[in-house]
Amino acid sequence: MSESPQQHYAKATTRQTGSSEAREQLVDWLRDAHAAEEQSEKMLTKFAGRIENYPELKSQIQRHIEETRGQARRLKQCLDRYGDTTSTLKDAFGRMMAFAQGMSGAFVDDEIIKGSMAAYTFEHMEIASYRILIAAAESLGDTETRNICEQILEEEIAMATWLEEHLPEITQKYMLRTDMPGVTAKH
Ligand SMILES: [Fe+2]
Repeated sequence: MSESPQQHYAKATTRQTGSSEAREQLVDWLRDAHAAEEQSEKMLTKFAGRIENYPELKSQIQRHIEETRGQARRLKQCLDRYGDTTSTLKDAFGRMMAFAQGMSGAFVDDEIIKGSMAAYTFEHMEIASYRILIAAAESLGDTETRNICEQILEEEIAMATWLEEHLPEITQKYMLRTDMPGVTAKH
C-alpha cells in the first residue's frame, strides 16, 4: 500500500527533527561500526602477536590497535547519546568479519601476506562505513557524531595509506626470505 502525501510529509518532518526510522538507521550503522572496531581489535591483536620478522608492520599494527580501542570508545559515546545499550553484531557485518578473519590465514604459508591483505581490505571497508556514517549524521543534523566519524575516518585513511605504501616492501621481503634456507618467511 502506498503512503498518502500526509503520511509522507509526516515522515519527512520527523526525519528533520531526528526522531524517526532514519534515526534508527543511523543508530544501527553506529552499532555495526562499533562491532566492527571490536572485531578489528581482536583480529589485529591476533595477527600482531604472531609477527616475528616484520617489525615495522608489527609496530604499525600495534599503534592502530590503540587507535581502534579509542574509536570503539568514541562510537560508544555516540550510541550512549541515543540511549542505545546493546552492541550486537549484525548478520551482514558478521559475515564480512568472518571473511576477513578467514583471510587472515594463520595456517597458510604466506600468512604475513594474507594478514596484510585482510588488514588492507578491512580498513577500506571501515573507510566506506565512516563515509556513510558522516553523510547519515549530517542529514540528521547530528554534528557530534559527524565530527567523531570524521576523526575516525582520518585514522582509518592513515592506516590504509600506510599499508598501501608498505605492501610492496613487505611482499619483497617475504619473497626474499622464502628463498633463504633456514629462514622463516611466513610471519
Ligand atoms: Fe578502525
